[in-house]
Amino acid sequence: MLFSIEVNNKVITAQRGETILECLKRNGVFVPTLCHIEGYSPTGACRICVVEVEGRPDLVPSCSHPVEEWMKIKTHSPRVIRARRAIAEMLLSNHPDDCLYCGRNGNCELQNLAIDLNLREKRFSGSKNTLKNDYASVSIMREPSKCILCGRCVRLCETEQVVAAVDFIGRGNQMTIGTSYNHGLSSRNCHHCGQCILICPTGALSEQQHIAKVQEALHNPEKHLVAQFSPALSVGLNENLGIKAGKTADHIIVAALSKIGFSKVFDTGLATDLNILENASLLAKQIREGESMPMFTSCCPSWLHYAETFHPSILPCISPVLSPQQIMSVLIKKIYASEMRLRAEDIYTVGLMPCTAKKYEILRQEMLIDDLNMTDAVLTTRELARFIKLYGIDVNNIEPMLPHSPFHIRSTAAKLYGVSGGVTEAILRTVYFLLTGVELEPYKIGEVRSGSGPKFFTMEAGKYKVKTAVVSGMSQVQKLLKEIEAGKKNLNFIEVMACPGGCINGGGQKIGASDKDIKTRSKVLYEMDEKENIRVAHKNPIVHELYQKYFDAPLSNKAVEFLHRRRLEKKMEGNEQIL
Ligand code: SF4
Ligand code: SF4
Ligand code: FES
Repeated sequence: MLFSIEVNNKVITAQRGETILECLKRNGVFVPTLCHIEGYSPTGACRICVVEVEGRPDLVPSCSHPVEEWMKIKTHSPRVIRARRAIAEMLLSNHPDDCLYCGRNGNCELQNLAIDLNLREKRFSGSKNTLKNDYASVSIMREPSKCILCGRCVRLCETEQVVAAVDFIGRGNQMTIGTSYNHGLSSRNCHHCGQCILICPTGALSEQQHIAKVQEALHNPEKHLVAQFSPALSVGLNENLGIKAGKTADHIIVAALSKIGFSKVFDTGLATDLNILENASLLAKQIREGESMPMFTSCCPSWLHYAETFHPSILPCISPVLSPQQIMSVLIKKIYASEMRLRAEDIYTVGLMPCTAKKYEILRQEMLIDDLNMTDAVLTTRELARFIKLYGIDVNNIEPMLPHSPFHIRSTAAKLYGVSGGVTEAILRTVYFLLTGVELEPYKIGEVRSGSGPKFFTMEAGKYKVKTAVVSGMSQVQKLLKEIEAGKKNLNFIEVMACPGGCINGGGQKIGASDKDIKTRSKVLYEMDEKENIRVAHKNPIVHELYQKYFDAPLSNKAVEFLHRRRLEKKMEGNEQIL
């Protein structure tokens, strides 16, 4: 039901059931928030969103108060601004004030609030928070001194990622955000997704940086540096570089890193095509043999960690195929090294990924071959942008370059891996070919593209039916697993991504991106798929060459040796094992 209210002396339309904040936002009136997360129930913790309602003795938090018919609201009265300034000043009173050295400088909600409220001097100096930084995780770094106790990370980790790896500890002015037994953010329950970094309004959460170690390798004359970049990083990079979004940055990445001193820059897509071939062959085999157990994807390391920790019984159903990042690193250190007559230990491989969990993946025990890390470092999209700026590359005046040979051709199916549903679409295109001997027509599978909820799609391939599901965000995964365990869902293939929407919304992407920005990233990938010629992995000529020369055929002994994981069952006990 619609009704009118008065806001700042103007009549606007309100809807029954919405909060004051929702109504204001819909009508283009901005009110600052800190603890609020869109789509979550309000907690009213920070009070920065207060407004004045005529007839009410106290200011009311707009994020948690329902809009009512008689309301006359002032959003920026002198009393409201005074209250907001006082709250912000209190939050800043025990802040470390090291903004110049903070990774969020220039993109911090607390800093922006101070600017918007015209706070020009520090009137209150509270006792500083002396909690130590938490470096226990291989992917996420916590700086509790910058935490404003908004609780966003706590709610997101519990609701969306369903693991509650962080929580409020203590009471009153002793309250902090901590981890179980204060052991630091460990591999025991945190699955490294980095979604908490994206939601944190300050610099209290960030990725474990690999920039310094990449620099060290770059300046070591004995190292031969090779980078690979993923599709979701490529469509998210421009936003971080301050250039027009809505385009892939593939050619800028190759040109920039070549200038910086990398010997080769490969598109991870070629390795993705191998991943597609192996997974599709496995799935087609399971379908032909009437296998009753579903096959889960394995390219998301956060999902693997979650399954190992909370659902070990399904591990045998998870595809054994290595992730695209790891396949590319194996290609580099095993095949490229021998073709270039280089020693694998002299090659330094850097994954350019939209994902914080990839920093964890490269250290998993089964990713070591002959005691050698296949990937040496991972730079997230945010880190790559910083790295490019560090070396003074002017991305607006750079001659774009194509990815280097010998791993320079990839299908557009490989690019679809960047978006939720894309792995399913890419693998089904090849499964269809394997089951029927003809190409899927049309290639596009719209059913797995739209919407944010779980997606279900059954593909008819000749006499076979392939039943698939696509889930992203661990809360969707948890629900689906319960349904499967209860026998309510009978599926052949399940694509799982820990980050809602897939890697385009990975924990290493730009902080503060809007839903529109994220949609733009997927649009770019889908447009590439429409425009280019090689749209299926099995038509990639380099993939055929690699099988001929090195791996025989999909699922052959050699393919399993190089392209599949070694010890999936071996679960790490904690960070100490991988540090
Ligand atoms: S990285 Fe993911 S699982 Fe770990 S604390 Fe953050 S949101 Fe939770
Ligand atoms: S770590 Fe960040 S998101 Fe979590 S409570 Fe502190 S300020 Fe909020
Ligand atoms: S945003 Fe409303 S109370 Fe924090």
